[in-house]
Amino acid sequence: MSNNALALKHPVKSAAVWEKLAHHAKQFSGDHAQYTLQSLFASNPNRGREMVFSCDNISFDASKNLITQDTLDLLFALAESSGLKEKIEGLFTGEILNTTENRPALHTALRSDHSQNSSTKALTVNGTDIFAAIRETRAQMKAFTEKFHHEKQFTDIVHIGIGGSDFGPQLVCRSLSHLAKAGLKTHFLSNIDPDAFHEVISRISLEKSLFIIASKSFTTQETITNAHSVKALFLSQFGKDYDFGRHFCAVTGKHQAARDFGVPDTQIFDLPDWVGGRFSLWSAVGLPIALTLGYKNFSALLEGAAQADAHFRSTDFTQNLSVLMALIGIWNRNFLDYSGLCVLPYAHRLALFPNFIQQLDMESNGKSVDLEGKAIEYATTPLVFGGIGTLAQHTFFQFLHQSQDIVPCDFIAIGEPLAQYGDHHEKLIANVLGQTKALMEGRINISETHKNFSGNRPSNLIWLDQLTPQALGALIAIYEHKIFTQGVIWNINSFDQFGVELGKELATEALKNMA
Ligand code: F6P
Repeated sequence: MSNNALALKHPVKSAAVWEKLAHHAKQFSGDHAQYTLQSLFASNPNRGREMVFSCDNISFDASKNLITQDTLDLLFALAESSGLKEKIEGLFTGEILNTTENRPALHTALRSDHSQNSSTKALTVNGTDIFAAIRETRAQMKAFTEKFHHEKQFTDIVHIGIGGSDFGPQLVCRSLSHLAKAGLKTHFLSNIDPDAFHEVISRISLEKSLFIIASKSFTTQETITNAHSVKALFLSQFGKDYDFGRHFCAVTGKHQAARDFGVPDTQIFDLPDWVGGRFSLWSAVGLPIALTLGYKNFSALLEGAAQADAHFRSTDFTQNLSVLMALIGIWNRNFLDYSGLCVLPYAHRLALFPNFIQQLDMESNGKSVDLEGKAIEYATTPLVFGGIGTLAQHTFFQFLHQSQDIVPCDFIAIGEPLAQYGDHHEKLIANVLGQTKALMEGRINISETHKNFSGNRPSNLIWLDQLTPQALGALIAIYEHKIFTQGVIWNINSFDQFGVELGKELATEALKNMA
């Protein structure tokens, strides 16, 4: 497809500014391009300082993008004309943003401070004060966590869930594993593959394990099959009178189904329908986080996300990290015609972050009809993939540097590592700087064209001072809001996921036919 072909179509509301952006983009790509990343830096030596934005201990360096202040001004106008301000308010105040399922998307409420003495007003959904409901679930989680640590009946936790009921807690437990309670092992079982089941089951003792079934619907085939297979093991090993229920918790919106399975009422944690799966780690889906890292660290994670929420809700678009990341993403996708996004944490502890963002982004915004149900002809979310630095350098970076496709990258780095060994960390960070510079500058080699690097390839740098529970909470929330902002501008519903349904249905049919 030719450059800017996708920019020819646009969301109706922002038509005028969309056209201006498409025109403006001609200065950066195609035959009449006037600017390159290098020329932008050469003409403004302060660019590397001027285009860095921050929110608490996280900064976002946007300088290595093909943008000027004029580009940003047009993008801010795009956000204004899309009604972003009102939509952000709607997100926080319970507007029905998930129109196809007639629900608000209130993950921000899960991390806001609505303790009895906080000044936050009550929020009612379908006649229920959701702040009171959240307080109740938090209290239940806290009490259960304290009892769990006090009684020490279990040495292993097995979290059974998939997609949004798996990635979030898994990401947090892995990223902050240095804070895990001693003597406790946490496993994540998501795949229906019997080998995955065996891998987990062969590492634990049933008697010493607590199983958490996390499923909003309590019907997801993988999760329910795995849960029933665990139950069958208990019954076959300990007899039908064994109290297997005490080994199970359920996090679900379908309490009766959990009861029918045999989970005791006190161990059923509510997952309300106004929390989308991929936004649910802040809810009781975070139970394995609280059990593994302690309730205090779970609270700190929520606090960090709440700080990013406050930043998103009240900071002017010109300094707003989520809005800036979203707008630059839209510029790259819709106007420069780049169809990918590569997420690259240079932090071993964030190894699962690309997988998590892949679901968050592609399940939210991989859509092709607008809020009115009409087919849209402009591009929505890019293909999101990623890997961990420096390992990815030795696998797919060849493509990033020399393929014909230009893929904008999000590099994520941490200032202070946990462990200090020699100059490991300096070398790690030097690789971030080296790679972003190589993508930007390239190197021309006329005599040996296979050594030619075209350069002019954009990247973002997201910098965390330290990877604390607060910082991780804020980082995830910043990305959530980035994705929401893009959904608003594309005029799509970021909170449903009907694209996953057809395959599930046909697999059920195939299973019947196989039988
Ligand atoms: O198949 C996709 C999906 O619906 C995700 O959106 C969700 O996070 C996951 O399945 C798990 O769903 P549940 O929590 O209902 O088991």
